[in-house]
Amino acid sequence: MKILNFGSMNLDYVYSVQEIVRTGETVRALSRKVCCGGKGLNQSIALSKAGAPVWQGGLLGEDGGPLRAALEESGVHTELIHGVAGPSSHTVIQVDEKGRNCILFYAHEGLRVTDGLIAETLAPFGPEDWLLLQNELDNAAQMIREAKARGMKVILNPSPANEDLLSVPLGLVDCFLLNEHEGAFLAGEEDPSRVLSALHGKFPQALIVLTLGEKGSVCLADGVRYEQGIFPVQAVDTTAAGDTFTGYFLAGLLEGREIPQCLRRAAMASSIAVSRPGAADSIPLPAEVEQALAAAE
Ligand code: RIB
Repeated sequence: MKILNFGSMNLDYVYSVQEIVRTGETVRALSRKVCCGGKGLNQSIALSKAGAPVWQGGLLGEDGGPLRAALEESGVHTELIHGVAGPSSHTVIQVDEKGRNCILFYAHEGLRVTDGLIAETLAPFGPEDWLLLQNELDNAAQMIREAKARGMKVILNPSPANEDLLSVPLGLVDCFLLNEHEGAFLAGEEDPSRVLSALHGKFPQALIVLTLGEKGSVCLADGVRYEQGIFPVQAVDTTAAGDTFTGYFLAGLLEGREIPQCLRRAAMASSIAVSRPGAADSIPLPAEVEQALAAAE
């Protein structure tokens, strides 16, 4: 069983600021770092660190060497990544003193995912395998149709939530991992206490994992509801916390762990990521997660 993660790989330009800049304001950043990120790359690294066999699909520009190297150092298979002329996608991220962020994402025209690239990337995968997607690449609709035609299971992290999702065949998705904002967007339901049941009403076929920030996470699987709290830490940088959760949760499922254990490990891995700076760099190894879980008992 293999996971194909067809997703973004971004160079993150991360600025630490006292307060996130508001409309019309100019603020001086306290520091700047260039990091490896992208929801796709972060989730692949989290999956691989957590022990899952993962292949990264997607497009890298001429400056993408560090992104490929970061994936390979974490054991992610990179032979399906397609090189293109011009720069890779990038982000400008502000992180404030409380670890909160805001992210500006840019991918130029050359980073378009064609139907041909989808067919070529999915060719080695079949009914035993899973396709993981986020919402930073275009053409997710075709990726899902092609994966389903091959009998694959489709997992969607609809992040960032925007109108591009409206053209995606969400009824074909087997598992959603999403935060409260993405959940509200897809469910069309603002009341957080009703988002999970509204999502289940719309997508009864799917396993749903909804993360709720400081309130932890809830999961609905085969009609059973599970809850998991957070492990509180001093927040340094929340970037990639959700990606870490996604990678650890799915790796647990793939290993055949029970859902409560998948949720618990994902929650701890994500807490550790929040306590550290950066995106991919902040994702812990399983030994760190197990040690922290043992200490928390
Ligand atoms: O989820 C965090 C990621 O979102 C960052 O690494 C950034 O690249 C954006 O895609």
